[in-house]
Amino acid sequence: MNDPRFRLNPAQAAELVAQFGTPLYVLDEATLRTTMRAYRASFEGRLSFAAKANPASAVLAIAYREGFGIDVASEGELRAALYGGVPAEACTMHGNNKSLAEIQFALSVGIGEIVADNFSELDKFIGLDFSMTRLLLRLAPGVDPITHEKISTGQEDTKFGFSISGGDAERAVKYCLDRGLPLVGIHCHVGSQLLEPSAQIAGGEALARFAVEMLTKYGWRCELLNVGGGLGVRYIHEEPMPIADYCASIVTAVKPILDAAGLDPVLAQEPGRSLVAEAGVTLYTVGAVKLAAGRRYVVVDGGLAENPRPALYGAEYAVERVLSHSDVSNLRPATELTPAPNPLLTGERMGLPTRLSGRHCETDTLIEDVDLPDDIQPGDVLQKLATGAYSSSMASNYNRYPRPATVLIRTTGDFVVIQRAETHDELLAREQVPADLLQTKERS
Ligand SMILES: Cc1ncc(COP(=O)(O)O)c(C=O)c1O
Repeated sequence: MNDPRFRLNPAQAAELVAQFGTPLYVLDEATLRTTMRAYRASFEGRLSFAAKANPASAVLAIAYREGFGIDVASEGELRAALYGGVPAEACTMHGNNKSLAEIQFALSVGIGEIVADNFSELDKFIGLDFSMTRLLLRLAPGVDPITHEKISTGQEDTKFGFSISGGDAERAVKYCLDRGLPLVGIHCHVGSQLLEPSAQIAGGEALARFAVEMLTKYGWRCELLNVGGGLGVRYIHEEPMPIADYCASIVTAVKPILDAAGLDPVLAQEPGRSLVAEAGVTLYTVGAVKLAAGRRYVVVDGGLAENPRPALYGAEYAVERVLSHSDVSNLRPATELTPAPNPLLTGERMGLPTRLSGRHCETDTLIEDVDLPDDIQPGDVLQKLATGAYSSSMASNYNRYPRPATVLIRTTGDFVVIQRAETHDELLAREQVPADLLQTKERS
């Protein structure tokens, strides 16, 4: 089976570990660009990159240069895009609870589009300057995608968007028309990690039928119909539909409904995961190997903080040993050397089920049942595949670990840090201890 996921070869891994240590996020620019070009070649409509998947400014810059707009879900993501040289008019702002300050910031820089999620938000828009910005409505098309509950968003019972069947979507269109808001289009995003397009097709068809209804009832012409993101990636054994087939099936389903009513909106998609996930790996060093209750535990220098997805919704990944302890020992300063392998332990643990665990103060399992060599040792380096999306963007400082750097492998093969590692000083810079608590006096 063709496996397009990016993986490091041992020479690259050795150089990265020597220069940057672990844990480390790594992204491959060539893989990113190849995937982006596949989307562009497959879809005639408008494409945006959903920044939430990986909002490093350099990644957003690459997406923009490959012809993508940028979908942002917050002021922070918008600022990251602007910092990456993306013009505000190429950005679309989402979010189901945008603050007035965020909306005002987006309008002040001339964001291209804002997608309204609910009536409370529409109320905030009244009197604001939309001269440079177009408005879309996020609709809940009542589609239940076959994916994890936490990444299902298009169903009826959802916090996202105006319900079509409940009538809120129509009331929102009227609200905009009555108040002169610059409504140009509609949007939905039914869910993520979809391996085939049936849910997105159903969402797109619901949007198309709604657009026809609004034309008939109010004479409102939909100019932009955005079916969101959602295409899945290979984490373990998944085989997502090829990008070209996925895009074609959405257009084939939606177009006839629009054509029949004489509507010709620009069709839009905003993939996130499928553009970046497979271009990334995360490098870890094994710190401990132990046996407990008939199981082998392999513990790495990452986990919940640098990627919460396994803990959030049981996400699974594939992991491979890319360097063994002996390869690594001549790369590291003597002070960081790990103890020599324990031969007794190696013999005992043959064939035992193995759990890959993190270093955090939770049972942070990275992979429940992982296939790793019997002779895995402290000091070995592992690469976890398909971590380009929703890893660094969801990272935290739990246990006060500074967040790791992201290195981009340029198409020339050069390594460039696009997000440097946080430092302990940066974390401490946020602390403010009232002076009296610092005074040296007896504790009561
Ligand atoms: C509004 C919106 N658009 C696009 C995306 C990107 O989805 P995916 O990464 O599954 O392609 C999301 C993800 O949550 C989203 O909420």
